[in-house]
Amino acid sequence: MPTEREILDHQIAYYRARAAEYDAWWFRQGRYDRGEANNAAWRADIAAVEGSLADVLAHRHPATLLELACGTGLFTRHLAPRVDTLTAVDASPEVIAINRARVAAANVRYVEADLFDFEPAARYDCVFMSFWLSHVPPSRFDAFWAMVRRALAPGGFAWIVDSAHDPTSTAVDHPRPDAAAGMATRRLDDGREFRIVKLFYEAPALEARLRQCGMEASIARTARYFLHGEARPATTAQDPAGRQSASSE
Ligand SMILES: C[S@@+](CC[C@H](N)C(=O)[O-])C[C@H]1O[C@@H](n2cnc3c(N)ncnc32)[C@H](O)[C@@H]1O
Repeated sequence: MPTEREILDHQIAYYRARAAEYDAWWFRQGRYDRGEANNAAWRADIAAVEGSLADVLAHRHPATLLELACGTGLFTRHLAPRVDTLTAVDASPEVIAINRARVAAANVRYVEADLFDFEPAARYDCVFMSFWLSHVPPSRFDAFWAMVRRALAPGGFAWIVDSAHDPTSTAVDHPRPDAAAGMATRRLDDGREFRIVKLFYEAPALEARLRQCGMEASIARTARYFLHGEARPATTAQDPAGRQSASSE
């Protein structure tokens, strides 16, 4: 049995190897083409996710933003023009190179780092993560959110986008996603296979789990494919026994 650290290293290796073919998933190309009806539903859900993100950025005007696991820039390209400065972190130099070329913005600073060792050097008005939380093992969830809290400036908020469970979200030749397994097999175009962490949250369960880390969250599900919403440090936090206490924030 691989150790958790070995699985996380495998996950990094998978995204490094997948960098050049990563965007086919988002644009429903090749093995991710699920037929026009499913593709249209996917695009409608993308429009919902991108629309609420644009709204929240327009209303809150975060000046500084930390993007965790920025990938090839599918969201960085929307975030960068709406903030003063953006720090984009990812473990894969390959995806960072694609992101940098795609976004080409002077206000974006890239940091190559393993998020499980990452300590923010500053505090940010917004911490954004898309399709990252589902790759955080349950055993590291609390430590990860403690890091997010340390990264947030007073009054700051986190914004989450992630996968809801739908059998057509992944490639045609991937095993049907198992909502309960917590792990998934992923295949590259050349047939190489990787085992990665992949959790599918329901919105209320994710809100409840975030509450245990002292975060108030408001998470919605799009019609089929995505979860999205806000998490911010709670003004009152519940201890594990369920008692309420004043937050240190
Ligand atoms: C599913 S992709 C999401 C990318 C991007 N946020 C998006 O929405 O397309 C997951 C990303 O996490 C990165 N990653 C995987 N393990 C990591 C780790 N331990 N630390 C930092 N980044 C990691 C991968 O390189 C990949 O870019």
